Amino acid sequence: MAFNNVYKNKRVLVTGNTGFKGSWLTTWLTMLGADVYGYSNNIPTTPSMYKELQLSTKQNHVFGDIRDKENLNKIVQNIKPDFIFHLAAQAIVSTSYNDPFDTITTNVVGTASVLEAIRNITWSCTCVLITSDKAYDNVEWIWGYRENDNLGGKDIYSSSKGAAELTIKSYWHSFIKTMPNIKLTVTRAGNVIGGGDWAKDRIVVDCIKAFSEGDIVEIRSPQATRPWQHVLEPLSGYLAAGQYLYEDKVTNGEAFNFGPKAELTKTVLELTKDLAVHWGLKIDDAIKITDSIPFEEAKLLKLNCDKALAYLDWHSTLNYEQCVKMIAEWYGAFYKESEKDMFAITVEQIDYYMVEASKQKLNWAY
Ligand SMILES: NC(=O)c1ccc[n+]([C@@H]2O[C@H](COP(=O)([O-])OP(=O)(O)OC[C@H]3O[C@@H](n4cnc5c(N)ncnc54)[C@H](O)[C@@H]3O)[C@@H](O)[C@H]2O)c1
Repeated sequence: MAFNNVYKNKRVLVTGNTGFKGSWLTTWLTMLGADVYGYSNNIPTTPSMYKELQLSTKQNHVFGDIRDKENLNKIVQNIKPDFIFHLAAQAIVSTSYNDPFDTITTNVVGTASVLEAIRNITWSCTCVLITSDKAYDNVEWIWGYRENDNLGGKDIYSSSKGAAELTIKSYWHSFIKTMPNIKLTVTRAGNVIGGGDWAKDRIVVDCIKAFSEGDIVEIRSPQATRPWQHVLEPLSGYLAAGQYLYEDKVTNGEAFNFGPKAELTKTVLELTKDLAVHWGLKIDDAIKITDSIPFEEAKLLKLNCDKALAYLDWHSTLNYEQCVKMIAEWYGAFYKESEKDMFAITVEQIDYYMVEASKQKLNWAY
């Protein structure tokens, strides 16, 4: 009875369902017995996890722009969801340098459209709004950021997430907190990795694409350090936050951070080498280090996840070895096996993750 069965037979709307995290979340919600609806403007990559898992046959999907508030409102009124998970965004840092305006409108105005639709809801609905660890004002300190630290962002992508947060905060205080039928939480996580991602300029994706084609992967900033986390870690956090909010076990209108164990803080080079080894390659044949840095990214930014532990009984589940192995196995099945059922493999990985979490006595996993 994972997540206390609160998602079973519920109508759940996932925005950004055709993307990397949205596809994993849709699969997990389907396993939990939810009736999943999706809203996204396109299928953002080729290949795509959404297509490979044939998720269009397992959920109701509508194509539409998140900024189109009339259309989104109409969809929400038609579906009457019990839960909304908002993930639709321009999520690529490098793209935000090429198209800053689109990034700002998608991430900020798009979030405002979702909030407008929430304002018009007349039934009970629990809303989980996904932003990013990059929403914090990164002052490059060594400590983990807490939910009450300042928001900000020097680059466009980060500022779009900070601005989305300020938009949520103002809608919450101005309108939503007095709506007795709405429960709302904001969730922040970053450096998410896992099988099924094909978005550009992400290190795991670059590695797997190169390895699968017999090419050498060129890595920039090999010593850049990130707290990597498998996609199932933040998703278990989003689902736990939704559950606890639905059950009135946490305060309405608050934010939660979700991050990995300290041992997952590794350099780009370490992660790349370990992926190469799991792929069955010799490191020298697989990796080339290059000096060129095409765009600036925020330096190390860690999250403090004490609040999630204290109020949601949530902490991350996987160790580093498990995380890398799961990624290599997912892509290994995709690229190396001729007869493969990627939906079944994804379900297996989610089942494995839930078993590991229940061994660690995490409440949500029972
Ligand atoms: N992947 C990460 O490392 C990471 C880290 C922190 C936060 N996030 C956040 O998590 C969420 C999901 O990220 P992801 O990695 O799955 O991204 P993704 O790029 O794989 O998917 C983005 C999704 O949003 C949809 N979308 C984009 N623009 C849209 C628009 N104008 N209208 C409607 N739909 C639109 C796409 O169709 C897709 O379904 C995003 O909010 C992202 O910012 C991701």
